Amino acid sequence: MMGRQDAPASETDAVPVPRHVAIIMDGNRRWAARRHLPRQVGHRQGVEAVRVITRAAGEMGIEYLTLYGFSSENWNRPADEVSDLMGLLKLFIRRDLAELHQNGVQVRIIGDREHLEADIVALIEEAEALTRNNSNLKLIIAFNYGGQNEITSAVRRIAREVKAGRIDPEAITQETVANHLDTAGIPDPDLIIRTSGEKRLSNFLLWQSAYAELVFSDVFWPDFSPERLKESIAEFNRRDRRFGAVAAPVKS
Ligand code: IPE
Ligand code: IPE
Ligand code: MG
Repeated sequence: MMGRQDAPASETDAVPVPRHVAIIMDGNRRWAARRHLPRQVGHRQGVEAVRVITRAAGEMGIEYLTLYGFSSENWNRPADEVSDLMGLLKLFIRRDLAELHQNGVQVRIIGDREHLEADIVALIEEAEALTRNNSNLKLIIAFNYGGQNEITSAVRRIAREVKAGRIDPEAITQETVANHLDTAGIPDPDLIIRTSGEKRLSNFLLWQSAYAELVFSDVFWPDFSPERLKESIAEFNRRDRRFGAVAAPVKS
């Protein structure tokens, strides 16, 4: 596309990167179908892409990387596929946690964990506890996540605090809401990438995406490479983010 991959390393490395990149990793099943492979193979290759992209994001100096791994609507898939996807999260944490920790990656999982199996919750908690004080890349995995669920839970918690007399309804601000979301303390994503050619958010970071730049890549997630990530960032860098104000003055 942009031929970024052809640029000399020094030039590519100099490209400014957004602070928070979030990715809707889509297209595993179509990737497998194109190859006449079972869909589990697509999901497995998807996990390989997670490894490669996480490493690349850290090396590029991205501070926050959020990956959409399982949506609250993905329960509507066949039971064996749901179980494959649960198994892959467990496998990923078991196999990669030590390396992530060694690389100073801080892991955080967002989404509803109340309805996940106990062994998955235990692994999630272990990953978060082990990497809590790490300060390199912050890797956020959205698992059993849905933006509407997240906002609903936040409203419920705020309502409880109002009822208990700890919050005055008139004092509720956007910050109050943001602080009750799963992403409390995480800056909003600057760039949201969706792979596989679909152009929708599918319930991802609905509150937090208010001013995110959206970039759509046609490649299926298992084929998404560090070069593709750099292309998406190059596209982000060509955008003019106005946040409702006026265009930045043209640089002389
Ligand atoms: C993304 O790939 C992985 C998850 C949503 C869990 P899909 O499984 O959605 O693959 P496609 O989009 O049907 O090709
Ligand atoms: C979104 O992909 C969820 C994840 C990437 C985890 P889907 O494949 O589930 O989304 P839809 O159904 O195409 O909107
Ligand atoms: Mg999909």
